[in-house]
Amino acid sequence: MIATGSPLRFIGLLFLCLASASVLQAQRDASIGLIPQPVHTSVLEGSVRWSDYSEVLCARSDWTTATDRLRSLFAGRADEQSAGKIIWCVFDPALDQQGSYRLHLASDSICLAARAIQGLFNGISSLRQLKALYPEKAPALVVRDHPRFVHRGMLLDCCRHFFSVDVVKKYIDLLSLFKMNVLHWHLTEDQGWRIEIEGYPRLNEQGAYRKETDGSVYGGYYSKEEIRELVRYAAERGVEIIPEIELPGHAQAAISAYPELSCRAEPVDVANDWGVFKEIYCAGNDSVFLFLENVLLEVMELFPSTFIHIGGDEAPKTRWEACAKCQRRIESEGLSDEHQLQSYFIRRIERFLREHGRQLIGWDEILEGGLAEGAIVQSWRGMEGGIEAVRSGHRAIMSPTSHAYFDYDLRSIDLEKVYSFEPVPEGLSQQERQLIIGGECNMWTEHVPDEKTLDAKVFPRLLAMSERLWSPADRRDWTEFKSRVQRMYPVLEEHQVGFGAESVPMSYQVQLGLQESRVALEAYDEKTNLHWRYTKRADQEVSVEAAPFRPYSEPIEVEDGTLSVQATREGRDFGSVQHIETRCHLAVGAEVSYSKPFSSWYTAGGPDGLVNSVLGSTDFRDGCWQGFWGIDPEITLDLRRPVRLSSVELPFYQYTNSWIFIPPRVKVAYSMDGQNWAYMGEARDATDPMKRGKFIRTLKVNKELEDVRFLRIEVKNLGKVPDAHEAAGSDAWVFLSEIIVL
Ligand code: ACM
Ligand code: ZN
Repeated sequence: MIATGSPLRFIGLLFLCLASASVLQAQRDASIGLIPQPVHTSVLEGSVRWSDYSEVLCARSDWTTATDRLRSLFAGRADEQSAGKIIWCVFDPALDQQGSYRLHLASDSICLAARAIQGLFNGISSLRQLKALYPEKAPALVVRDHPRFVHRGMLLDCCRHFFSVDVVKKYIDLLSLFKMNVLHWHLTEDQGWRIEIEGYPRLNEQGAYRKETDGSVYGGYYSKEEIRELVRYAAERGVEIIPEIELPGHAQAAISAYPELSCRAEPVDVANDWGVFKEIYCAGNDSVFLFLENVLLEVMELFPSTFIHIGGDEAPKTRWEACAKCQRRIESEGLSDEHQLQSYFIRRIERFLREHGRQLIGWDEILEGGLAEGAIVQSWRGMEGGIEAVRSGHRAIMSPTSHAYFDYDLRSIDLEKVYSFEPVPEGLSQQERQLIIGGECNMWTEHVPDEKTLDAKVFPRLLAMSERLWSPADRRDWTEFKSRVQRMYPVLEEHQVGFGAESVPMSYQVQLGLQESRVALEAYDEKTNLHWRYTKRADQEVSVEAAPFRPYSEPIEVEDGTLSVQATREGRDFGSVQHIETRCHLAVGAEVSYSKPFSSWYTAGGPDGLVNSVLGSTDFRDGCWQGFWGIDPEITLDLRRPVRLSSVELPFYQYTNSWIFIPPRVKVAYSMDGQNWAYMGEARDATDPMKRGKFIRTLKVNKELEDVRFLRIEVKNLGKVPDAHEAAGSDAWVFLSEIIVL
């Protein structure tokens, strides 16, 4: 195989590529199946037989990483008899962006033109897909393409669960196949330290292993040798690995190895549960900064990336508030509070990274107390953090929980939802828009113990993310995209990807009238059929045999009980049976108003969600729960006619790890006219706020009353996460799913 040729030959070829593309009859923008959709595709007459090609020629010695890769894709493919045709890789200074490329497939030559090696990698990804989609011969075509954003990433959390070098390689390969160019590698956490650091061996000997509640030991870390291998492997595929070393929070594994890094310097275990932990790095102790700088020096030695991610999210300030050293730092630096202390912490690390030629990325909490000079904000709690960053002239990466959290269930983020992601919010100036450098999907792995689950969570959703970060904003076409996704499934199978479903099989809406409601089911697509049955509450209690499933045709009138739905697709079950708990009661269809608004993240679909007869499940993201963060909500119902009632029942939720607690008290008042109120009663709850697990508790207030039109529910939030909790002092959540009036 020939590696280089005479420069003259290459210049001649460049003109040939340009000329032939313009004279052939082009069918513009035909969908040939690539994901992400290229900026421009023209299908030409004729076809290309892959087996004719075995040689790669390139004049540029600085492109060998990419051309070697291309060569390996075509190695040994040429038929014995056929002359080895040539894949030309040419430099084209006229291409306008680093990542842009032009691919010309003709029966007599394949030509890949780029301005920079990134463009070449992107063109190789298109070639890989074309070879997979058209295994024998592909249509002749021209692709002219460039990315919309320079930063197209996926976060992989290898701390909550550890993934082997082979799995990480598989993901690098897949990212590259879909032109994602960043692996954001989350390497340090409360539950495990996963990167070898020679200067602090206990980080690995102790910090990399946690004792599970069943007594078993879970853990592991990547050796420097393995990390170098992965960085090289990624570079050969046009992917950059950006390491994330979390500070000042999510640091319990490091503190377990070196307790003196925390404010109290007391021994703690590597965490074996999920959540946010209050043992964080002490901000008043200079030896903590020395430790972090030494760690970062070793990190920078391993990772050549310009960007280093330092986390910065979810750092409870409880320990800092009670630490003499931290308080001294606040005083000596003239800071106003612990938020500014966090800002001081990040600025100090940012300066250190900058002195070493690197740039800092942090989660949007790094905005609190003032943003460090050159810092880039990764917006996760919505888009607001990113907006604030670009308004102050900083760059931003968008990965909001609403669209980009692949650990979330398909019920909240399905393929279509990801495909609807728009990284640039409305209302920004041209200059501000340009500061949004891209986006990421985040794969947190608390509930992803193995490769199988990982595949099913990431795919096919990654295909949608890749397209939203690459293709022009106005090229979004859901129906057309979905058909390309179908064609990509066999390709994913070839890559041993056990992809999951595109969506839950069905969604539903409640049609609401005064004291009546119907559930309208909607199947995922026209190939999906739905079957339903109702198990009435009375029947559940005496456990009679369930009714048979019947085909769904029209909205189902709500009863007291469980509506179960089974979807089928092409004759087979599609997903498992879904259950919707419903209650008939007097407040259904009432008007709901609030003294303080519910959270925009947990809305239950709006005010009607509390009076729509549908109860929440033990998945607090099922769309049925309304959340209130750190406030005592007062909710008023107008029942729209006088009623006779005897009870108000309020199903609340507890999941201590996510700071959601059963409220200690609720009070109910009633009124005939909305002006004069009387006390109906109250319910107190003695549930231990530290009781773990996910559960629902229904608080009840009973009193026989006539002619009541208005009800007011006053909920006492726990207020702060309790002292014994790992995130003590943070604002507590209250979650309510329905106001049941009987
Ligand atoms: C995050 O999800 N805590 C960044
Ligand atoms: Zn301290």
